[in-house]
Amino acid sequence: MSKELYKSMNAENMEELVHAFYPKVLKDPILAPFFIAKLGDNIESSGWKAHLKLIVEFWKFAALGYDEYTNNPLTPHLAMEGLSREAFGQWLRLFHETVYEIYEPFAGDYLKDKSLDIAENFMRKLEI
Ligand code: HEM
Repeated sequence: MSKELYKSMNAENMEELVHAFYPKVLKDPILAPFFIAKLGDNIESSGWKAHLKLIVEFWKFAALGYDEYTNNPLTPHLAMEGLSREAFGQWLRLFHETVYEIYEPFAGDYLKDKSLDIAENFMRKLEI
C-alpha cells in the first residue's frame, strides 16, 4: 500500500521533507558537487546534520512563520562558484518531486510556489 500523504505542513513533516530531499541532492550529478565541496559526501557527518537542522529551521520560517531561522539564506550561495540556471532548475525539479511524495497536491503546491519564488529571487540576485 502506498504511503498516506500529509494534508498540511507542520514542524514534524517538514523535517521529513528535508530528510527526503538532501539524500537525492547528494546523488545528483549536477547538484552533488556543490554540496560535497562545502559539507562532504557523508550525510551522517556532523556538518551535514547541522546543515539539515538549519534547513528545517529555514522551511519552518519560510512556510510556517516560525522565527528560529534568522540568517540571510542567500549569503552562502553568493560565494559558490559555478551556480547556474541549469543547477537551479535541477534543484527545483528534485524539490518538487519530493514535495509531492510527502504532501497532497494542495499543500505541495504551496511549497512548490514558495521554493520557486525563492529560487527566482536567488537567481536574480546572483545575476544568472
Ligand atoms: C543550484 C541550487 C542550489 C545549490 C547548489 C545550493 C547549495 C547550497 C549549499 C552547498 C549550502 C551550504 C553552504 C554552506 O554551508 O556554506 C546551501 C545552504 C543553504 N541553501 Fe542552498 N543551494 C541551492 C538552492 C537553494 C534554494 C533554491 C534554496 C531555498 C529555496 C536554498 C536554501 C538554502 C538555505 C536556507 C541554506 C542555509 C543558509 C544559511 O543559513 O547558512 N538553496 N545551499
